[in-house]
Amino acid sequence: MLPNLFLSEYVKKVFDSYPKLLGTYSSAQGDEELREALSRFMVRQHWVQLTASEMVITTGAQQAIDLLSRIYIRSMDPILVERPTYSAALDIFRQQGARLLPVDIYPDGYDLERVELLMKRYKPRLFYMNPTFHNPTGYTVPSAQRKQLVELAERYRCLIIEDDAFHDMYFDKPPPMPLITYDTEGWVVYLRSFSKYVAPGLRICSVIGRRPVIGSLITAKSLADNGTPCVNQKIFLHYFGSERLQQHQEKLRIALQVRRDIMEREFAGAGWDWVSPQGGLNLWVKLPDSIPMEPFFAECVRQSISFVPGAICDPLREMKSWIRLSYSFVNEGQLREGARRLTDIAERFK
Ligand SMILES: Cc1ncc(COP(=O)(O)O)c(C=O)c1O
Repeated sequence: MLPNLFLSEYVKKVFDSYPKLLGTYSSAQGDEELREALSRFMVRQHWVQLTASEMVITTGAQQAIDLLSRIYIRSMDPILVERPTYSAALDIFRQQGARLLPVDIYPDGYDLERVELLMKRYKPRLFYMNPTFHNPTGYTVPSAQRKQLVELAERYRCLIIEDDAFHDMYFDKPPPMPLITYDTEGWVVYLRSFSKYVAPGLRICSVIGRRPVIGSLITAKSLADNGTPCVNQKIFLHYFGSERLQQHQEKLRIALQVRRDIMEREFAGAGWDWVSPQGGLNLWVKLPDSIPMEPFFAECVRQSISFVPGAICDPLREMKSWIRLSYSFVNEGQLREGARRLTDIAERFK
């Protein structure tokens, strides 16, 4: 489902338009033309008031999470993280020595009383969240909670890192506005990676925030790599501004929805639990507790089936009977076959 054919055309166009591109470094903040284009897009799509100076381009969202952790987290600093959450983010926070305070995410959002209690009691510096088609669960925090979360962040001076990697990967209707739309005081820093629907190979993420956050991020970015490669940024810029991306995105949404449906149909009789995702790339499935995860996982890998075990997404390293299955990676036939194999193996281990 990658736009290979189109991208190769843009590569040629970009090298013709910028003959000195290969010999040029980007600024640490990111290509100005790209930041201008992406800030216009954010203003149009989300009514966020912003200029290109309030944006940094990073090499993927993962780099942004890493840089923000280096800036904001000192050893033993308490931070809020969803439970479960994106496992690489947990690895980054642990590496930085953070004390992880889990906030359960449910199909209808968080328990805001608990969020407030944790903010009041521990004064965390950060709350890392992925509130839209969340990885791994696919859940989306409803809009009513979004405004309240920003108010809590302001009241308790806790910076929200809003990781919005799946925003455009919706099925029937677009998701609610991002939290940063409600932010007037600068307590939200917004990460919009384009890895998931343009190309992971380009690793382009735009980070939006207010001045103090952006200033520190530019310094951290210049220390890390002095700027995301210009070639990637310009190719992305030209593709991003094209009608083709729009068409590609629409096809992708349909293809992902079809694959989600296939997976759900295959699992219908298995007696497993999940909440049907309305966007994103994953199905978060609860298997029977009786299945021993380690040998089960080993057997699946032996039969060429891969999934993310729930425990690695859990800040408490529990959730052993949960798994995250991706329906984006293989074609429909392989998906059907893989799902059947998975249910057969599970049946044997039950
Ligand atoms: C929630 C979340 N954030 C960030 C990333 C990483 O994105 P990028 O490729 O832009 O580093 C992923 C990738 O799976 C993700 O699921």
